[in-house]
Amino acid sequence: MYQTLTTNPPAFLHSKHNPTLSTGPSISNCISLRFKASASATTASSRTSRWSLHDMTALVTGGTRGIGLSIVEELTGLGAIVHTCARNEDELRKCLRDWKDEGLRVTGSVCDVSSLADRGKLIEDVSSVFSGKLNILINNVGTNIRKPMVDFTAEEVSILMSTNFESSFHMCQLSYPLLRASGAGSIVFTSSVSGFVSLKSMSVHAATKGAINQLTKSLACEWAKDNIRANAVAPWYIRTSMVEKVGFFSFAT
Ligand SMILES: NC(=O)c1ccc[n+]([C@@H]2O[C@H](COP(=O)([O-])OP(=O)(O)OC[C@H]3O[C@@H](n4cnc5c(N)ncnc54)[C@H](OP(=O)(O)O)[C@@H]3O)[C@@H](O)[C@H]2O)c1
Repeated sequence: MYQTLTTNPPAFLHSKHNPTLSTGPSISNCISLRFKASASATTASSRTSRWSLHDMTALVTGGTRGIGLSIVEELTGLGAIVHTCARNEDELRKCLRDWKDEGLRVTGSVCDVSSLADRGKLIEDVSSVFSGKLNILINNVGTNIRKPMVDFTAEEVSILMSTNFESSFHMCQLSYPLLRASGAGSIVFTSSVSGFVSLKSMSVHAATKGAINQLTKSLACEWAKDNIRANAVAPWYIRTSMVEKVGFFSFAT
């Protein structure tokens, strides 16, 4: 299913980043959960006057909806150039179109990060788009299946492990040469509160996020010598398509 989206070369990919690349469709069903990165011009200018990611390169996995979508728009709003991915091609194309209309510098690939082969192709694309240098890797993709622990099938456990943990682990491995080459790399994992405390019916999701938390600490120590930082953010509930699908956690149920 992997697909590099190619249309007209976006202006930002000319010059120093990649004089030859043809990419640029913009996607998004950028649906109901679209949080605008720039709430107002005043806020944006106040923020960018304090700090900037001007021309920093970033890969954000799962950037067409929910938390990933907000991250893409926040990073580009601060001046970064972003490549993102998702499985749904139509949604990705719509997002890319919308971002292009808004002047945001984003390219994308149709990719299932739970597939080892797709991950390899994604990094090839990223290396091509960003000329072998990546400043920021946001391992955002994740999914959830909620049910009592004894009811999980082996296949469900495998889906959660490969989507949430293995994909993030492997994306770090694949990105390592690019992050190191940038001279100032940063990895951010989207973890979860479930990786720290017990939440009802979330045993496997919680285990994948706990593993991510520990991986974050290991990488932060192991790759500090390469000037690559590793951090994780652990959200509580945010009403995204994932939460709409699996249902809200309730202390009462
Ligand atoms: N929402 C919350 O309350 C909450 C709380 C704690 C942690 N988190 C974590 O935050 C992260 C984002 O969650 P979200 O709620 O924003 O999810 P979401 O609204 O479902 O968005 C997920 C995004 O990732 C993409 N995606 C999903 N599976 C993919 C795959 N296998 N390969 C490539 N792209 C994939 C989706 O596009 P496609 O479907 O087209 O692939 C979409 O762009 C996850 O790691 C989640 O565990 C969320």
